[in-house]
Amino acid sequence: MEMGRRNFLAGGALLAAGAVAKNASAMLPGEQKAWDAYKASPDVKREGIIDSEPLLQAPAPDSMGVGFAVNGMSAGFVEVADNPELKGAKRFYAEGMPLARLDDRVSLVRMTGLKPATRYWYRVGASQLTHPIGYWTKQTLPEWGKTYSFTTPGEKAASHFGVINDTHEKWEPFKLVVDKLAELKVPVTIWNGDIPTSLYKKREDIVRVMYKPLSGEGFAASMPVIVNRGNHDYRGEAAAQYESVVMPRLASERSPRDWQLGFNYAYRQGDIALIGLDTGEDKPDIHPANGGFTCFEPFRRAQTKWLADQFKRPEIASAPFVVAFVHIPLFDPDPNANPGTILEDYAHWQKQAAEEWGPILNANGVQLVVAGHMHRFRYDAPTADRKWAQVVGGGPHLDRGPERFPTVIEGKVENGKLVVRVHNLKDKCIAGEYAYERRRI
Ligand SMILES: [Fe+2]
Ligand SMILES: [Fe+2]
Repeated sequence: MEMGRRNFLAGGALLAAGAVAKNASAMLPGEQKAWDAYKASPDVKREGIIDSEPLLQAPAPDSMGVGFAVNGMSAGFVEVADNPELKGAKRFYAEGMPLARLDDRVSLVRMTGLKPATRYWYRVGASQLTHPIGYWTKQTLPEWGKTYSFTTPGEKAASHFGVINDTHEKWEPFKLVVDKLAELKVPVTIWNGDIPTSLYKKREDIVRVMYKPLSGEGFAASMPVIVNRGNHDYRGEAAAQYESVVMPRLASERSPRDWQLGFNYAYRQGDIALIGLDTGEDKPDIHPANGGFTCFEPFRRAQTKWLADQFKRPEIASAPFVVAFVHIPLFDPDPNANPGTILEDYAHWQKQAAEEWGPILNANGVQLVVAGHMHRFRYDAPTADRKWAQVVGGGPHLDRGPERFPTVIEGKVENGKLVVRVHNLKDKCIAGEYAYERRRI
């Protein structure tokens, strides 16, 4: 696109030069006048188009997504290079074919063709459109963000991840969360659901919580997040517009059968395969609260087929460690706990997902399931029947007694084992530490 723009400008200059020499232009006099005026002052631009720090998202070994808020209809883009000076940078525009995507509030750009486990530097930019002659479209001079860097995942990348969950727009604990992530230097963070206070009434609500968190804007400018939606992320009219604000996975990551599973993921972060599953709402589809237009039951079933197929991929089958991420737990130690399939209250565990996904996780030696939703840290050790452990992250409150505290769950391969540490952010201590042997599958 960069080259195309230069060629286009050169073409325009030639056209204008020809007009002078022959005193006859392909342009009408009015067009010529407008073009000359544009050429004399092409840098029509408005300040302050970029309205947030970038948020890296949907990471993959060969691609990286980034989003940022904008003020006003504009085209967003990214320049990315293998050096901090951005020499030889490649430019990617907001996704769209055949037109780059324009948006008046958020720009989503994906960098593709990247090398796995490789460090890159990038900066986001945005231009508005101007029309010097009729429909002729030109970009205003770009406004640029700061330069940041990231490292792509892959089998040779760091075997390390962080998990946050149920942040619910509580900005005081959120500050503790982002500070801990920075301190741990995790290469990726799974944002394991329930990001809004309660629901997304307007698209702006999603923009605000993702790109302009009051105590942590820019926390994912150099480290990508993977969003695993929770039940609250599906509530409110604007939840249906989610994919225009938060980037789904690259379509080539899944088969045509799985085309609707845009946010499920399975990829290698070093020795660990990260698998993302979506438990959906915490009430059955027939529940009156869902308004009659949800289909989470077929959605979970579609993920069952997808999940089984992931273990046929060589890089997942051979992973020394596999961790699955879900919002609603797949197990509850209380036999009377709400399974999410009844009309009373809400799920403490998701029975359909547990019954469909649990055996696949068992059969493939998955060591750990990481969940949230309960707002209270808990560890469920593996049993003879359920070979995977489950760790449930804490909630967003600092004032609900000693048993409740926000957490960052950290997984890291150390001395050949996957070590999981649950950081209690309120009392600044380790709430639990667990270690897992390599898979024997
Ligand atoms: Fe929650
Ligand atoms: Fe939840």
